[in-house]
Amino acid sequence: MPEVLTTVTMTVNGQRVARSIEPRVLLVHFLREELGLTGTHVGCDTSQCGACTVLLDGEAVKACTVLAVQAHGATVTTIEGLEGTRLHPVQEGFWAKHGLQCGFCTPGAMMTAAYLLSQNPHPSEAEIREGLDGVVCRCTGYETIVRAVQHAAALMSEVSETSGAEDVD
Ligand code: FES
Ligand code: FES
Repeated sequence: MPEVLTTVTMTVNGQRVARSIEPRVLLVHFLREELGLTGTHVGCDTSQCGACTVLLDGEAVKACTVLAVQAHGATVTTIEGLEGTRLHPVQEGFWAKHGLQCGFCTPGAMMTAAYLLSQNPHPSEAEIREGLDGVVCRCTGYETIVRAVQHAAALMSEVSETSGAEDVD
């Protein structure tokens, strides 16, 4: 049987891309193997760990649970696209508060945190923990990740007070 290919187009990190792929290809594999965006990690491939989290039309999704064809026409942001002209506050937070050790969960944790803060700029600690409960981290014990997100929230708040929220990418 010849392979049946379908063409998908989407905008990834601001760039329009088009590829002919098998319809069964998952978004996470599309990003990593077709586009070379290996910052999106694969931990479990079964929607348990959150390492593959990206933003799909602004919503945090586990890219191992989405077919690439389901993202046809959509806008996708991966960890490679998180920073703009400077580090995203979430990246600054993880750096400042040592929110990572081995780094395996980090891209997914950062994308999840960025989504959380886009929905709730001033989360309580409980809301941060709840927002990140789809992210499994084997290293940090989560404390430094929570502090990183709190730091990011404070930075975003400072920026919006001094120069407007549009300065935060
Ligand atoms: Fe997608 Fe684990 S690789 S949730
Ligand atoms: Fe190692 Fe989270 S930093 S799994």
